[in-house]
Amino acid sequence: MTVTVRKAVIPAAGLGTRFLPVTKATPKEMLPVVDKPAIQYVVEEAATAGLFDALLVTGRNKRALEDHFDRNHELATALADKGDMARLAAIETSEELAKIHYVRQGDPRGLGHAVLCAAAHIGAEPFAVLLGDDLIDPRDPLLTEMLEVQQEYGGCVIALTEVDPVAVSRYGCAAVSPAKPSEPVRVTDLVEKPAPDQAPSNLAVIGRYVLAPEIFDVLRATPPGRGGEIQLTDAIRNVATGAAAGGSVHGVIFRGSRYDTGDRSEYLQAVVRLACKHEDLGSQFSDWLKKFAATEI
Ligand code: G1P
Repeated sequence: MTVTVRKAVIPAAGLGTRFLPVTKATPKEMLPVVDKPAIQYVVEEAATAGLFDALLVTGRNKRALEDHFDRNHELATALADKGDMARLAAIETSEELAKIHYVRQGDPRGLGHAVLCAAAHIGAEPFAVLLGDDLIDPRDPLLTEMLEVQQEYGGCVIALTEVDPVAVSRYGCAAVSPAKPSEPVRVTDLVEKPAPDQAPSNLAVIGRYVLAPEIFDVLRATPPGRGGEIQLTDAIRNVATGAAAGGSVHGVIFRGSRYDTGDRSEYLQAVVRLACKHEDLGSQFSDWLKKFAATEI
């Protein structure tokens, strides 16, 4: 019997060092992408896929995240008194997207450890993990597709994308067995951030996972790996190779737009792309951008 996935885990305890100094006092997840913080896109993505229970794994200096998803009565009253219903609706959206829960990851012991912090909240159901640094174009149904694969095959499902072979050392990297174009691939092995000459392929793991609850026991038994951290990739590898329980591991190949918003250049690209598509700003901003590119670059 298949169990419907209802819950999303969103690790958000990272220090954001690639973005200093702005992240000295502001969580990286709160950096604006046009007019919403990056984390809101991730929660919206989960809700669009039908996951209305989101657990944010946070740490010190992340209070702004809780404030963003909480009610702000003072601001709401001020906007209502002014009759500014559009802005009132905008602030209420972030409050009503999903039921948001929080758990703190006291020690920064890696992504695998962050996911393990969700064990009590998740219980014995399959669940999704969405990494806040990976912003998937909001029109792309990647997560919905992954949930469908999980319903059909059970086990774990990861998202993979083809990258330049020299770039694999920034990602988890998968060995897969071939599949028909419309079918998910079967993942046979995974390596966290391999050197390019040791990578099993150029298929990189991107930050969307649907995991079987057995992963928690696997994570508890996973020793620190790359960088001395407990790696989610290592735990999923043990499932994929059959060394641990959790069923099969399938991969959905993603060919849409994705931005690593923890990287300054890709963050700027995300802002420009989404600004061009924005319903209010889009056409005016695109016109300006075309003139700017033609005259000043
Ligand atoms: C994490 C994972 C890695 C994955 C990446 C995707 O790495 O450990 O396997 O490829 O996210 O963004 P991080 O970027 O947190 O170092």
